[in-house]
Amino acid sequence: MNVRATEALICATRLTLLEGDITEQKVDAIVNAANPTLMGGGGVDGAIHRKGGPAILEECKRIRQQRYPNGLPTGDAVSTTAGTLHARRVIHTVGPIWSGGRAREGELLAKAYRNCLSCAAEEGLRTVAFPSISTGAYGYPKTEAAHVALSTIVAFLRGKPPLSHVRVVLFSDDDLRIYSAVLDALLGD
Ligand code: APR
Repeated sequence: MNVRATEALICATRLTLLEGDITEQKVDAIVNAANPTLMGGGGVDGAIHRKGGPAILEECKRIRQQRYPNGLPTGDAVSTTAGTLHARRVIHTVGPIWSGGRAREGELLAKAYRNCLSCAAEEGLRTVAFPSISTGAYGYPKTEAAHVALSTIVAFLRGKPPLSHVRVVLFSDDDLRIYSAVLDALLGD
């Protein structure tokens, strides 16, 4: 059964939670749940590189050589071309690997969302789509991740950045239900 998308207006920015494929989003920037190597992987990372083509990886290699020889630190964000994807840019970030919640995972996950939003705003990108960062291979429990993601996004948007639409694209009905319930509770609906 398809769960309806959840919409909210935070100051002047629309926030939409929907089920879908991040690589199909027609937005200015999609966020990649990358790893520090920036050399691709599975999940979101694999789909973006597979569908976006080699231009993305070529730019990631240059970024590694010129700016991050030791890899992109957890919570940081960098942007590249989106290659043949609908989006104009890919913002690559590295979420924390869940290790029980005693290694600043919440702080690092919030940092990743905040840095991606800052990167988009600084590059004049108006619409951004996020996946559910760290909740796949990195094992972050989904409800906890949803709290961190949505409270960070809402707080950032209450600062009135020049963003018109932020989406969180969930890969299953269940994940959309989790994120929607967390957003409803957060906004007091
Ligand atoms: N569109 C939207 N969401 C997706 C897609 C997709 N095409 N593919 C997977 N997802 C969902 C997963 O179901 C999960 O909920 O994105 C969320 C994040 O999962 P991962 O892609 O595994 O990302 P993460 O948990 O952050 O792990 C990152 O995995 O792919 C490697 O190179 C990557 O090492 C890094 C690690």
